Amino acid sequence: MTRRKIAAGNWKMNMEFEEGMELARKVSHMDIPDGVEVILGVPSLYLKPCVDMLLHVPKVHVSAQNCHQAKKGAYTGEIAAGMLESISCPKVILGHSERRAYFQEDNAMLAEKVDRALEHGLEIIFCCGESLDTRKAGEQNAFVTNQLKESLFHLSAEVISTLVIAYEPIWAIGTGETASPEQAQDMHAAIRSFIAEQYGQEIAEQIPILYGGSVKAANAQQIFGQSDVDGGLVGGASLDAEQFQQIIQSF
Ligand code: 13P
Repeated sequence: MTRRKIAAGNWKMNMEFEEGMELARKVSHMDIPDGVEVILGVPSLYLKPCVDMLLHVPKVHVSAQNCHQAKKGAYTGEIAAGMLESISCPKVILGHSERRAYFQEDNAMLAEKVDRALEHGLEIIFCCGESLDTRKAGEQNAFVTNQLKESLFHLSAEVISTLVIAYEPIWAIGTGETASPEQAQDMHAAIRSFIAEQYGQEIAEQIPILYGGSVKAANAQQIFGQSDVDGGLVGGASLDAEQFQQIIQSF
């Protein structure tokens, strides 16, 4: 089957307001191939103006980079899934390795965040990925599949089929070192077969699995060309309009 193809940018904590809006404006004018969806993971503060700017732009969608696991309450500085819904933000990235590492997000907490996000109609881009030590020990498949099991496998087949999964090996993030196309394909295939074991092949075939970790214009085509790689979650290179445009064209 043909799965959705996705080029997602994750700005992380980069870009001041005017620069960010300028980049979003440039993306709104980009040439996007048929069947490709572009997602911009922008800082929370810019979500509302970006949503407003891109509302009527076909194929380009805005995403938050996180939301809290509680519905609302005394959590100073945090953002609830309902707040994202209230500004018509359609998507949220959950489980990024930086949030797991620096903000102590574990699989159980992420399961709660997933539930909150779904209650508010958000489409989730769920990140997983192993450290270098885990890969050196040859335990990457068990590690990643456990992340998915503990945070996602309480969902029904109908619901899990709406998710996007992003495989981001931690050792490839911001390091300039990418997983080889074969390493990416192997893990993506393992993720898909793990989902198939639980939910059946038909559901597993529907879920886009993105690769993230030093994707750039120069390597996107090779990585996206793998049969189980449905696009990329791009950090640094998504901050540069020209590079991001080339990545979007790489399918
Ligand atoms: P880089 O593309 O900068 O390596 O970041 C990847 C990433 O973490 C995207 O979420």
